[in-house]
Amino acid sequence: MDIQNFIKPESNIVILTGAGISAESGIQTFRAADGLWENHCVEDVATPEAFIKNPALVQNFYNQRRSAILSANVKPNPAHYALAELEEKWGALNGGEALLITQNIDNLHERAGSRNVIHMHGELLKMFCTNCTLPMQNETAKKYDIQKDIDEHTLCSDCHESGTLRPDIVWFGEIPYHMDVCARALQNCDLFLSIGTSGNVYPAAGFVQEAMLAGALSAEINLEPSANASIFSTGFYGPASQKVPEFIQKLTAPPS
Ligand code: OAD
Repeated sequence: MDIQNFIKPESNIVILTGAGISAESGIQTFRAADGLWENHCVEDVATPEAFIKNPALVQNFYNQRRSAILSANVKPNPAHYALAELEEKWGALNGGEALLITQNIDNLHERAGSRNVIHMHGELLKMFCTNCTLPMQNETAKKYDIQKDIDEHTLCSDCHESGTLRPDIVWFGEIPYHMDVCARALQNCDLFLSIGTSGNVYPAAGFVQEAMLAGALSAEINLEPSANASIFSTGFYGPASQKVPEFIQKLTAPPS
């Protein structure tokens, strides 16, 4: 299906990205064949229970991920740049809006120039204090920028407690951020585009159904068909750095 031929004026686009879009930028995806994430079970490093049980292990794990995304080798790739260009041009070209929802905790979309970005699983370069935050209020907690390591001695600048700062990551068992904004955007979207995600983690994996129930067309761009590939109107398979710019070039080309 050639989606580009069905796009009408004033069409809203929602783009969901996952780890696959950052793979060619040097950041490892989650679901490797061995099921481990950088040699850890996710339960040991990505749950609130893990943080209570072994805070040093969890902090160390995210300290390593943080320093990796800040390393000189990690840079946005052509897929990130193509999405930033789409956001910039789409309003003028079509009159609609383009919203980017990412499951990624890196900052590569922003570094490529995207501004309308929702980090539904949080951000590695932010932290918050569990002592200053009411339980279950992580989304609205006061966030602090962080580039260095956090450990049990790091003091909160507001309450001056130590050991209470944690990475601003949505862990398993916690509620993803900005679900109200996502739901509204999916209700009003005409094209839903999913890039570099395996379709295993909900609620993100259910966004395609929400969008299509609201009448949207949908496409996935991934290295291989995702877990819910059969639901999409169409799919384009190959490296994101090639397939995303190709798709966006066609989408934004003047009608022939
Ligand atoms: P996954 O690791 O589950 O899936 C990444 C997908 O990207 C796979 O389907 C790969 O085939 C595909 N892929 C790999 N390299 C690619 C490339 N160069 N171009 C295009 N596609 C490529 O990652 P996510 O689906 O993002 O949550 O995982 C979702 C969530 O699970 C993450 O946000 C994280 C994790 O647990 C939390 O930490 C809360």
